[in-house]
Amino acid sequence: MAQTNDPRLREIMIALVRHLHDFVRDVRLTEEEFRAATAIIAKLGQLTNDTHNEVVLMAGSLGVSPLVVLLNNGNNGATETAASMLGPFWRMHSPRVENGGSLLRSPTPGPAFTFTGHVIDRDEAPIVGAEVDVWHSSPAGLYEQQDPEQAEMNLRGKLTTDDTGTFSFRSVKPAGYPIPTDGNVVGDLLRAQNRHPFRPAHVHVLVAKPGFKTLISQIYMPDDPRLESDVQFGVTRHLIADLVTHDEPHSDDPNVQPPWYSVDYTFVLEPGESKLPKPPIK
Ligand SMILES: [Fe+2]
Repeated sequence: MAQTNDPRLREIMIALVRHLHDFVRDVRLTEEEFRAATAIIAKLGQLTNDTHNEVVLMAGSLGVSPLVVLLNNGNNGATETAASMLGPFWRMHSPRVENGGSLLRSPTPGPAFTFTGHVIDRDEAPIVGAEVDVWHSSPAGLYEQQDPEQAEMNLRGKLTTDDTGTFSFRSVKPAGYPIPTDGNVVGDLLRAQNRHPFRPAHVHVLVAKPGFKTLISQIYMPDDPRLESDVQFGVTRHLIADLVTHDEPHSDDPNVQPPWYSVDYTFVLEPGESKLPKPPIK
C-alpha cells in the first residue's frame, strides 16, 4: 500500500483488504466456499452484456447501490433526498412531451394517472427550464423494450419545467415488476434466501439543469404491497408518493374513467455538475 501514489486509491485499498480479510475470518470461509465465491464473481461478469448487467443487479440486490446513493446525495447523507438508483431501463432521446401531455404512444390498458412535479433549489426557488426525463413500466409491469405490445418509447417522455418550475404528464398507473431471475446468479441468491424478485411500482424521473447536480429519482406508489421488501432496496419514506384517488370525472379529459390517480411531488436539486449518466444498456 505504501507505494500507491494516488491517496484515494490507497485509502480504498487499505479498507477493502481489511474488510475482506475480516469477512473471511468472520465466517471462517472454507476452501470450497472460496472457490464457489470466485466462480460466482466470474459469472457476474460473464452474464453481463449490452442488454443485461448482472453486476449492477447484484449490487442492488445486496443493498449496495442504494447505500451509495444515500451517502452521496441529500447534503452527503445529512438530509432526506429524492435521489435513487438509475436502474437499467433508462434510454436517451425520449420523445418530447408538452406539459400536461400523454406518455402513451400505443393503447395501454390501465388506470389513468397524472404526475405533477415541482423542481426547486435548496432555497425553495423554482427551477425554470430544467430538462426532465420520465419513464415507467406499464400496468402489466413491463417497460416498452421488454414488451412487443408496446410502441417504441411508450411510457417515456422528455419534459421541460415551466415558469413555476413545474412539469406534468398523463399516463397509466405503473405496476411493480420482477427483476430477471432466470439462469442468473441473482436469481440463485434470491431463491436460496426465499426472497421474492419484485420491485414495487414506481416512476423514474431524471432532472437536469446546468449549475445543479443531475437528480436521478424513483417515486413509489404507496399502495404497492412490496414497499417494505423491494428486492433492490430502493424505497425510502421520502420517495413514497402521496397518491390521490379520484372518483370524480377528469376535468381535462372526459374519456378518463374514474377512479383515476394523481401524484404531486417536489424535487429539490443540489448545486453541482450537470451531467447525464451513460445508459446502462443499449
Ligand atoms: Fe424501474
